Parts: sequence; structure tokens; C-alpha cells
Amino acid sequence: MTRSPRLIHLSHEHASALKLALAVRALTPDDPASLPAVAQRIRDTFERELVGHFEEEEKHVLPRLEAAGRADLAERTRRDHDRLRELAAALANPSVDAVRAFAAALTAHVAFEENIVWEALEPGAGMSFDPEAI
Ligand SMILES: [Fe+2]
Ligand SMILES: [Fe+2]
Repeated sequence: MTRSPRLIHLSHEHASALKLALAVRALTPDDPASLPAVAQRIRDTFERELVGHFEEEEKHVLPRLEAAGRADLAERTRRDHDRLRELAAALANPSVDAVRAFAAALTAHVAFEENIVWEALEPGAGMSFDPEAI
């Protein structure tokens, strides 16, 4: 099946989100001096890339899921987005735990979309990966 340009575009943004999550997960707790800069980088990237990405999915992908009878997947996507917005806002007070919670939630969310949501919409479209292996 041909992949829709929108899903391809969103997948490219997923790859860059995963890069951010990977960089964040490399942070070591014994380097507290780097925390404010890491938290700021996440918040900047969130504003610049993820806010619009989530809005695009909510506007264009979720209605497709609902039309396909997968309101359950649309609901989980909305919940994940709200949780990630909360976790990003919490980084105004940076801590290692907050940074790691954001990175873990972002990785799990991208895996959910690529492995389950994209597959529900267009079989074969997802990049199919194990978030534990990242
Ligand atoms: Fe999403
Ligand atoms: Fe996404």
C-alpha cells in the first residue's frame, strides 16, 4: 500500500523526536550542571517541533482513526499528548527524574504511533521498533 505523504512527514518528525530522546537518555545523574541546559533544550524543541506535530496529528490523524473504528487508539494518543505537554511544562523546574520521565514517555509514544497507530491506518507504514532497545 502507498503511504500517505502526511504519515511519511510525521514519521520523519518521529525520527527527530527519537534523536532528542536518545540524547536526553545519555544524561548522567552525576552531571547536575548540565540539567538546566538539557531541560531548556527539551522545552525549546518541544515548542519548535512537537507542539505543531501533536496538533497536526490531532487534526488529521485522529479523525482517520475514529473513522476506522479505532476511537480507542485516538483516545490513547490524546492522553499521551496531554501527558507529554505536562511533562514538558514540568521541566521549568529541571530534575533528572523529570528529564528521564519526558524522554521515556516520548520514546514510548513514538513507538505506539509507529507500531500501532500507523499500522492501524496503513499496514506496513510504521517503522516498527522496540522502545526498550533504544
Ligand atoms: Fe503523537
Ligand atoms: Fe507523532
